[in-house]
Amino acid sequence: MLRCLRVAPLSLRANLHSSVHPWSAAAQRAVAPPEDFNDRAFKEYFPGPCNYRQQYNESVHNGDEFWTNVANELHFRRRSGKGLEYNFDHRKGEVFVKFMDGSITNVAYNCLEKNIISGMGNKVAYKWEGNVKGDACEITYSELRDKVVEFARVLKSRGVKKGDVVALYLPMIIDLPVAMLACARIGAIHSVVFAGFSSNALAERVKQAGAKVLVTCDGFYRAEKYIPMKQIADDAVKVCEDAKHPVESVLCLEHLKTVTRPSHTTDKALIRDEENFEFAVNDAKDVFAPVEWVQAEDPLFILYTSGSTGAPKGVVHTTAGYMTTAYYSQKVTFDAQANNDVYWCMADCGWITGHTYGVYGPLLNGMTSVLFEGVPSYPDYSRTWEIVGKHKVSKLYTSPTAVRSMMAHPEEMVTNYDRSQLNIIGTVGEPMNPCAWKWLHEVVGERSCAIVDTYWQTETGTHLLTAHHSAVPQESSCGNLPFHGIVPALLDENGKKVKGPGSGTLVIEKAWPGMMRTLWGDYERFVNTYFAPFPGYYFTGDGAKRDAENHYWVTGRVDDLMNVSGHLLSTAEIESALAANPNIVEAAVVATPHDVKGQVPYAFITMPEGQVMTPEIEKEMRATVRQRIGAIAVPDVIQFTPGLPKTRSGKIVRRILRKVAEGERNADLGDITTLADDTVIAELWSHRPENA
Ligand code: PRX
Repeated sequence: MLRCLRVAPLSLRANLHSSVHPWSAAAQRAVAPPEDFNDRAFKEYFPGPCNYRQQYNESVHNGDEFWTNVANELHFRRRSGKGLEYNFDHRKGEVFVKFMDGSITNVAYNCLEKNIISGMGNKVAYKWEGNVKGDACEITYSELRDKVVEFARVLKSRGVKKGDVVALYLPMIIDLPVAMLACARIGAIHSVVFAGFSSNALAERVKQAGAKVLVTCDGFYRAEKYIPMKQIADDAVKVCEDAKHPVESVLCLEHLKTVTRPSHTTDKALIRDEENFEFAVNDAKDVFAPVEWVQAEDPLFILYTSGSTGAPKGVVHTTAGYMTTAYYSQKVTFDAQANNDVYWCMADCGWITGHTYGVYGPLLNGMTSVLFEGVPSYPDYSRTWEIVGKHKVSKLYTSPTAVRSMMAHPEEMVTNYDRSQLNIIGTVGEPMNPCAWKWLHEVVGERSCAIVDTYWQTETGTHLLTAHHSAVPQESSCGNLPFHGIVPALLDENGKKVKGPGSGTLVIEKAWPGMMRTLWGDYERFVNTYFAPFPGYYFTGDGAKRDAENHYWVTGRVDDLMNVSGHLLSTAEIESALAANPNIVEAAVVATPHDVKGQVPYAFITMPEGQVMTPEIEKEMRATVRQRIGAIAVPDVIQFTPGLPKTRSGKIVRRILRKVAEGERNADLGDITTLADDTVIAELWSHRPENA
């Protein structure tokens, strides 16, 4: 049965303080839900037509008041009275964004004490699920706060002060959000490095951020694979020392003694006494670590993301603006209901999704979240649904890659488990393909869950475009609408705005509080990367299409970045790792489509005259990429070629390489008259491996 719902016309300000949020799914669902949609999904209904677009209009026309009203729901020690200030046009002066400049607050306080004071101390903050089934625990908001205070004491005992950077290299264990919040509590800046990164990648990030302390653990298991975290961290510390950027202090948690080991390992992490976290806790018992009240524009964290020139970019997010949009977008996109929800964001805290929608967003909204250490494939592909059923998960945030990997297995792996509470399934990271959407909608959601795609970036901090269930029809590939407060535009190749339906480069016209403020230590690169390409606009680096209903479809990167399983990788970084091999003259890497991962790297390499490619050289090259960047960046195919297609000015024509990687022999290669030597094309095809 189709339902049409009405929202009582309340003023914007009054709505923000009502007990049922006016933009909650309950209040908003007005488009035709799926055919046999039942009442399970949304518990509270308001009659009335959809008002998402009307509220959107208010949010962008009166952005200052809109965002300040949202911030009024959070705790500030002092409010300066200022709102959103910005300049996106570097020709008119310095590019900057500020929100509530001069106000004073603390994000960890808002995540913990604020909820505890309002009576939620005994509410579960995290339900932790280990890699091995049966390893599980829970922590309440009060217990979480106690752990955060304890961690903050340890950091202080190591000399960490407001403004210092602390690198966190940890798996998905409760100590990771604890460490993030401990930094936030004392005004330190966390820089989380994904636990899948190699020692070199870790060292690069620790050096660039100038981290004073590095926090890690002995090791952990990803499925049956043992990851020796401490050993990797030790190697990274050595690299930093050699580069004259020594880390002052290493803290190592003992995680392995608390979990079931799925496979035998003889490895024992070497933890020196001064690195042992438990000893440090004992030594720091009497250290005072109160909440540090910080400025609205003080940095909260740095998070590294791939840059198209190779070196990773340290994206900086600050306090009040990030907190306000994390809180708000969690609430609106996921219809956050502190009393009813069990929410699970499957992303690792090493990525922005884990930061905003695994830690800050849910805690600011007082939600109970699942935190999962393992992978969806272990012990088999039913693991996700077993966890959903066990904890009665009501909101799930996942990725197209995870969905595609699960849908290749029997449906019973899903349908054997209880999904009766599940009502919103969010996706992020890559374009959502129709097959994956259909599987989520029909098999997982049994046509009664809202499937909400969300498009955003590390740099944007929070959602930019969403298929909000109240306003976007529940149909496959129906595109996304701009999130409240976000003004997107499409530009043509001349930088002119595309009017109405069409396609172009996706840019954002106005600032929003939660966007990045700079790149750590490199303001110039910040301006050059995001604002110089189209003065007056924030450049996303993505292309998109737009239809007559203002729905957007993001089509992918327009720069030299690729998206592997939802993770951005730089082609330049992979190329330089490959070319480090002395047998290689030149390497060119392109992204090629993959059924599960979305895209994978495909490498073309040239060698000195007379030299031939051997399995050993190929193995060495793969090992170098794994060691320098991480396993995720290892090319699926490494193809030898006598030459690369280049223009007369020496620029590699990647569009031709892409066609070869895709195996499209009959494809139109576009204009090849600019090539210095077009015989290369035939050579590329003749050297294409049979099994590529
Ligand atoms: O290309 C877009 C793609 O992922 C990029 C951002 O990657 P990252 O900073 O690692 O953050 C990922 C999680 C927010 C974007 O520039 N992307 C992200 N979400 C989508 C997407 N592409 C299409 N559809 C999405 N929903």
